[in-house]
Amino acid sequence: MNLTQQEKQALVDLANAARQRAYAPYSNYHVGAAILADDGRIFTGVNVENASYGLTICAERAAVFSAITAGARRLLAVAICTEYGGSPCGACRQVMSEFAGDIPVWLSDSTGKARETSLHTLLPDHFGPNHLPV
Ligand code: THU
Repeated sequence: MNLTQQEKQALVDLANAARQRAYAPYSNYHVGAAILADDGRIFTGVNVENASYGLTICAERAAVFSAITAGARRLLAVAICTEYGGSPCGACRQVMSEFAGDIPVWLSDSTGKARETSLHTLLPDHFGPNHLPV
């Protein structure tokens, strides 16, 4: 699906705004994510850390779980904001791929400058829900 420049920027801006609400006192690495679902709704997430470090949840998975909890099932596009436009971890790539095909992923820095990649570029030969070779 092709988003307009305005739709893309809106998603990036929401990821950036969400990032301000990240709870990351241990790593100080603040992440915000915004996901457009196929019903038009947008869901956001932030990383939420914990004094028991391993309990931390990443922003992308928080956003996906929020979307699924609200009844969305297919994801159309994702924007992820970090200070310098960092890439999502492998666990989040896998979780996003459960609910999406080769969707656009924008990696934004804290100024809103974003570069576009795609989920299958980030996760080639992904393990899919049908457990079959890609
Ligand atoms: N983090 C994310 O939120 N998303 C990622 O894709 C990578 C890592 C968070 C987890 C932790 O709170 C902090 O960034 C440092 O790893």
